[in-house]
Amino acid sequence: MSKAPRDEAARHAALIREIAEHDRRYYVENAPIVTDREYDRLFAELKALEEARPSLRTASSPTQRVGGTPQAGFARVKHVTRMGSLDNTYSRDDLLAFLSRVETALGGFPRFVVEPKLDGASLELVYREGALVLAATRGDGVEGEDVTNNARTIRSLPLGIPCRGEVVVRGEVLIDRAALEAVNAEREVAGEAPFANPRNAAAGSLRLLDPSITAGRPLRVFLYELVLAPDAFASHLECLRFIASQGLPSHRLERMCASADEVLAAVESFGAARAGLPFDIDGAVIKVDDLGARKRLGSTSRFPRWAVAFKFEAERATTRLLDIVVQVGRTGALTPVAVLEPVALAGTNVSRASLHNEDEIREKDIRVGDLVVIEKAGEIIPQVVAVAEAEGVRRGEPFEMPATCPACGGRAARGEGEARWRCTNRLACPGQRKAALLHFTTRGAMDIDHLGPSLADELVDEGLVRDPADLYALSVEQVEPLPRMAAKSAQNLVDAIAESRTRPLDRLIFGLGIPLVGEVAAAKLSERFGTLSGLAAADPATEREALSEVRGIGPKIAQSVAEALADEHVMAVVRKFLDLGLDPKARPAAPVSGPLAGLSFCVTGTLSRPRAQVHEEIRAAGGEVHDGVRKGTTHLVAGDKVGKAKLDKARAQGVKILGEAGLEALLRG
Ligand code: IVH
Repeated sequence: MSKAPRDEAARHAALIREIAEHDRRYYVENAPIVTDREYDRLFAELKALEEARPSLRTASSPTQRVGGTPQAGFARVKHVTRMGSLDNTYSRDDLLAFLSRVETALGGFPRFVVEPKLDGASLELVYREGALVLAATRGDGVEGEDVTNNARTIRSLPLGIPCRGEVVVRGEVLIDRAALEAVNAEREVAGEAPFANPRNAAAGSLRLLDPSITAGRPLRVFLYELVLAPDAFASHLECLRFIASQGLPSHRLERMCASADEVLAAVESFGAARAGLPFDIDGAVIKVDDLGARKRLGSTSRFPRWAVAFKFEAERATTRLLDIVVQVGRTGALTPVAVLEPVALAGTNVSRASLHNEDEIREKDIRVGDLVVIEKAGEIIPQVVAVAEAEGVRRGEPFEMPATCPACGGRAARGEGEARWRCTNRLACPGQRKAALLHFTTRGAMDIDHLGPSLADELVDEGLVRDPADLYALSVEQVEPLPRMAAKSAQNLVDAIAESRTRPLDRLIFGLGIPLVGEVAAAKLSERFGTLSGLAAADPATEREALSEVRGIGPKIAQSVAEALADEHVMAVVRKFLDLGLDPKARPAAPVSGPLAGLSFCVTGTLSRPRAQVHEEIRAAGGEVHDGVRKGTTHLVAGDKVGKAKLDKARAQGVKILGEAGLEALLRG
């Protein structure tokens, strides 16, 4: 690579400085001094320069924010000092007790800094020689995960700072409420589950394996603790000033307090400012300012003695309950939802809230027409917690769950000892069909893009899709006439469905939505059946017994799987998949080693010890175990009283038959 002439190198450095300064003004100060056009021009010049002179391109260049290819996982990194957390206080008295403990320990009331407690994911950053070299999550406090490639995509975070030498800072990654709403709206269109709250969104985005997806999430970061810097500082305030002087984003909401009353007032002011902030805060953090005093106070085994968090109460609002509607889930669960007169709560407008179940509504005597108290404790969907005022209003009748399903008119029933009502119309209920279809397309299942709730509604309502298998028979011509669809979007959907044909068996099993079968159980089932045709051929009665012994399945799940295998509707869907050419296979098992690797056993008859123990030994030696003689079985271990049928089948297939002693010999290698 040719070396760049000096003037080009100088121009390159100047452009980086200039762009970083504009980024800071835009993302940190919220006060840009150039137009977007001017900014784009500088950026384009930088890119062109680097294309002409690749040797100039360094990791600190703003052209390199979204670098790196998707990773398989995150490396673990040790924090320079333990990344602790804070003790919480919930009342004025607790807080005053903390202040007086500190006062006594120090022999006088120190100055405190009060800051907002940002409700996001904590992050540690390391800069060396001015360049961002590491971003790590907290993890267990001792070791975190290296999420540098993702953190680099956060536009308010400078990739370079003026200070040379090592700088370690900690802070919080957040997402604004409004930005989260936009992200969730997009996820919904893409058929993905929305994030429940900003904290999950921030933490989840930081831990994505593909930085280009993180780059699309509008994350922000605020740094609030300096852990290491070349200069020594005497106070937290000086540290915060240093952080700001480096162009690093900080919340800048700190308040200095010299008395207990001032601390209380500052905490209260953050409580009052909460709804007006664009992001969530869940409390205030009260910190001793003097770093020498912090050292003297030290920490307990879990928390520093020099700081405490004051947690705000969940935000509440009062509004009118206009209606109670009932929603149908994919397993037919009927959930009551409150329809409210819209009210502002914790920075968003709320018009729906969750009501849990019938019993709770009765117990709290919540009725349509009541003024109700709703509460939001960091979650997106608030809860109705109580009736504020029932008198003087026209109250509705006590709530009763409908006797029929609101989606299909099928009979609704409440199982023995269950809090929940369900629609009994299993697979013919359009409400369940829609929910089941959406579940089938989610990430952990078949991961089909371009299929959100409104399209799922239309596909079911138009009779194009009755169950998930029907997706694989859809044509562009059928989809295109639906509302809001066009040739391109119809093609995208059909392509996404076709692409999902390559998913392994466990994803399809999970997508079937068998009650109690989550991703782990689905993986176990996939290992057991090998292919979808293997599952289709399984005998429900045999499986109920056999599966209940599989680690990670157990009797309850085994029962549910056996019921599904015996359910003609479920099996009709499975056969439809097969007819449409979908017969996914289990993922190749992790390569195993041991003397029995590559061998497949069936153990039968009465043995000298429990059969499960023999199974374990075979598996530990790398062998596979199945309950019957099947395709691929290499050995039949036969104890006493073995059925003739089994022996004949084994002989016919050329399976080796051995006794317990023969197995021992194989195990010894
Ligand atoms: S200082 C020894 N300041 O709250 C811990 N933390 O449990 C020093 N947090 O893990 C942390 N806002 O992720 C500090 N202004 C703030 C904060 C803050 C939010 C988080 C942080 C920490 C957790 C405390």
